[in-house]
Amino acid sequence: MSTETTANESFSDSPVLDPAATTLSQESISQEIADIHAAYRQSVVEGKKAETQPRIDFAPYRSSLLRHPTKNLRHVDPETIELHSPAFGQRDVHALESDLTIQHNGEPIGERIVVAGRVLDGDGRPVAGQLVEIWQANAAGRYIHKRDQHPAPIDPNFTGVGRAITGPNGEYSFTTIKPAPYPWKNHHNAWRPAHIHFSLFGTDFTQRMITQMYFPGDPLFSLDPIYQAITDKEARDRLVASYDHSLTTHEWATGYNWDIVLTGANRTWMEDEEGDH
Ligand SMILES: [Fe+2]
Repeated sequence: MSTETTANESFSDSPVLDPAATTLSQESISQEIADIHAAYRQSVVEGKKAETQPRIDFAPYRSSLLRHPTKNLRHVDPETIELHSPAFGQRDVHALESDLTIQHNGEPIGERIVVAGRVLDGDGRPVAGQLVEIWQANAAGRYIHKRDQHPAPIDPNFTGVGRAITGPNGEYSFTTIKPAPYPWKNHHNAWRPAHIHFSLFGTDFTQRMITQMYFPGDPLFSLDPIYQAITDKEARDRLVASYDHSLTTHEWATGYNWDIVLTGANRTWMEDEEGDH
């Protein structure tokens, strides 16, 4: 199974950053992004193929240089165990694991949301039985991760991780809290748009894909070098969920729809497995 979606993500709170990065202004980063995008658009005008995946070397995202192999890839056959694992059945992942709001004794603080959609292959066929994992910051923009030390409160009732297995029609649904933007150390005054990290497994460990889902209308999109590492606007747009009133429930939660397409021209962008911002 070929699993290709636009990947977008990294959670390594420990990027090896150039100390000088903290003095770089948002304006200079934004200018770098604009220059790269302008060159990309020109290359498309000149007949080059559209890029639907992120650039692995995207200079405005300073630590991207450290997040990919530097030597040529070598094809290696997967080990036997990798062809059989992970194997998940209905009993391995409990239905309640897709509700991130009920993992503790109390209610987490924040805006309760439902994020639901389908996992599809490039021909629009549902991908059933797929393990979908998510992780995210809380309503204050804080991860529970100990390396996340920015001055926003941890919510004792919110861990920020969940998982689900797609149903017969490729469907998944998570109940969670809307995450907030948070700062990171790419440059001075750098903030990530609100996002939820997604990981999808195929039929073996070698097919893992990681990406991020964003929320519509986020004012930080244009400033964010991770989101903008996807030079193609349509590919970027595919990472943004839609508000869906049919998923919104009376006096309970607002709903967002996000489909994940694994292969083909409309695939979602997926990232490498290194980090997470
Ligand atoms: Fe993140």
